[in-house]
Amino acid sequence: MNQSPIKLNVDLGKRSYPIFIGRDLLGKAEYLAPYIRSSRVMVVSNETVAPLYLEKTLAGLTDFQVETVILPDGEQYKNLEVLNQVFDGLLRTHCDRRTTLIALGGGVVGDMTGFAAACYQRGVPFIQIPTTLLAQVDSSVGGKTGVNHALGKNMIGAFHQPQVVLCDTDTLNTLEDRQLSAGLAEVVKYGLIRDLAFFDWLEQNVDALLSRDPDALAYAIERSCQNKADVVAEDELEGGVRALLNLGHTFGHSIETGLGYGQCLHGEAVAIGMYLAADLSQRLGWISASVVHRIETLLEKLHLPVRIPEGLDSQTMLDLMKVDKKVLDGQVRLVLQKSIAQAVLTTDYDADLLHKTLATERRPLF
Ligand code: NAD
Ligand code: GLY
Repeated sequence: MNQSPIKLNVDLGKRSYPIFIGRDLLGKAEYLAPYIRSSRVMVVSNETVAPLYLEKTLAGLTDFQVETVILPDGEQYKNLEVLNQVFDGLLRTHCDRRTTLIALGGGVVGDMTGFAAACYQRGVPFIQIPTTLLAQVDSSVGGKTGVNHALGKNMIGAFHQPQVVLCDTDTLNTLEDRQLSAGLAEVVKYGLIRDLAFFDWLEQNVDALLSRDPDALAYAIERSCQNKADVVAEDELEGGVRALLNLGHTFGHSIETGLGYGQCLHGEAVAIGMYLAADLSQRLGWISASVVHRIETLLEKLHLPVRIPEGLDSQTMLDLMKVDKKVLDGQVRLVLQKSIAQAVLTTDYDADLLHKTLATERRPLF
């Protein structure tokens, strides 16, 4: 017999919603139907996830008139042109504004579906069914939706909260090892920002996580979602503390955009970015070499890259870092470390030291 799923809450007043985390949740109407206040549903997935999980998902939606849209798979398709396929599907099937969109897939499908829901007929409800670790611990929670632009990552988007997030941990069994590690980068991020006990736990549970021990993964997802829910409840629209969730992202986004979307996975770019943030924090005298070593060691044990990939020069990175949603009055604000579990958003860094961090050793991605 399956245990009941873990249930967390994202506390946003009238827009609060639950996150369910557990095994064998797909296809169970009780976790979807109560959150759908329409007769029509459109499931958006991609060509990799749909053959694996669409049929099972549809089994939980028999009370609804269901349409589907299957997008091409890849970060390089997270753009306005491909997003139009969702609008084409909605309009072709005459979906009205009481239609609920359901995102079935990783962060790319989740961000695109959420953005389509934010825009279609000026806003329809949507549901997140994340199927990658990264999406289960981060992108499905918090209501950031959007697409990339050739000149900058996630530059077109909207805040739009889902009705419910359904994390079926069984879906992680089909994930490639590289994608699992990419998700673990975002898990480490919560420890580095605000949760020392979790960081310690991660150091002690590397093998369990990499071998996909279900209890270890469920705990990592729960603790990550709880951290994210707490931050989002405090600062939904990123006026303050939520910006800390971007640890590693300003560096990381410049790597993703600089190399071309899809070359370096988002989680991998975040891992490199977290190492670079630690390197700069050490140059500023805020943390010791031993703390940087501890961060680097954990990331490497989780099979994540920690150096800027070959082929990316410092000036290109710096130019791309200036296209960041945290830039204010032309100043690049960075999330740096005062210690493990204490991240800060700051412009209080010496530009020469940033240049030194960006000029550090290049390595092949793999
Ligand atoms: P992804 O969506 O590209 O998924 C990774 C790969 O795994 C894809 O090929 C996908 O088809 C495949 N896949 C998905 N589920 C699978 C499964 N169960 N089994 C086998 N294969 C599966 O990438 P991602 O890492 O999930 O998400 C990255 C995206 O999320 C980026 O675009 C990033 O900007 C975004 N993001 C958004 C937020 C947010 O707050 N909205 C936060 C973090 C990241
Ligand atoms: N991934 C950062 C955020 O949701 O704020």
